Amino acid sequence: MSGTSNTDNVTLAYQAGWQRFCGINLLAAPGALVPRAETELLARTTARLFEPSAGWAVRLVDMCCGSGNLACFLGVTLPSAEIWAADLTDPCVDLTRRNVAQLDLGERVHVLQGDLFAALHDLELEGTVDAVVCNPPYISSGKLAGDSAPLLAQEPREAFDGGPYGISIHQRVMQQALAYLKPGGWILFEFGLGQERQIEKLFARVGGYTDFSLRFDEHGQPRVALARKG
Ligand SMILES: C[S@@+](CC[C@H](N)C(=O)[O-])C[C@H]1O[C@@H](n2cnc3c(N)ncnc32)[C@H](O)[C@@H]1O
Repeated sequence: MSGTSNTDNVTLAYQAGWQRFCGINLLAAPGALVPRAETELLARTTARLFEPSAGWAVRLVDMCCGSGNLACFLGVTLPSAEIWAADLTDPCVDLTRRNVAQLDLGERVHVLQGDLFAALHDLELEGTVDAVVCNPPYISSGKLAGDSAPLLAQEPREAFDGGPYGISIHQRVMQQALAYLKPGGWILFEFGLGQERQIEKLFARVGGYTDFSLRFDEHGQPRVALARKG
């Protein structure tokens, strides 16, 4: 996410109350990040993993769901998938619920609130999830206090602040997802420009994952990491 280039799009989306993401119309509202075009790579990479088995009732988790863009796109694209979408904040959970309702996905997309996987506790999903997809906050707290500060003019800090090195939420999601994924289940992250080595090292440090790989945007920049539970 760049400092100012998204400002106009965010203003327009909040004014219109709508935003397009991967070809679907989503409600947009202050308090939740307006989905970015770069996140379509994460959405389409995830869908491609499961399109060959689109008739199967795969179980997916959209962690840090924001407006619910990833959960909604996957719900539309994979008509048999059951999806749990979770976020920390009231505005995000409220907007995701409204997006799920306007797309008539309420029977298969469940919206939950909490600190990462605490939102899923009591659901007995442990060891059953086919994929965890996550576009977490990934800007370092230092950058948010400096060059990237303009982002905070319109959108909430929780959408951007990834801790001292920008990868604190990636680390916690990697650790917590292991209990929920089935063996061979996938974890997919978006990350910031230039963070790919940090993310690869984090997978090695956390352990429990195999088959690490990257996906690249149209400019040849790595923006998505995926791996499987070993
Ligand atoms: C970069 S935004 C991504 C939103 C959406 N998935 C998208 O692709 O546009 C990150 C989201 O993570 C959420 N978040 C931050 N910390 C969280 C936590 N501890 N538990 C759950 N969600 C969290 C924020 O509220 C925000 O909606």
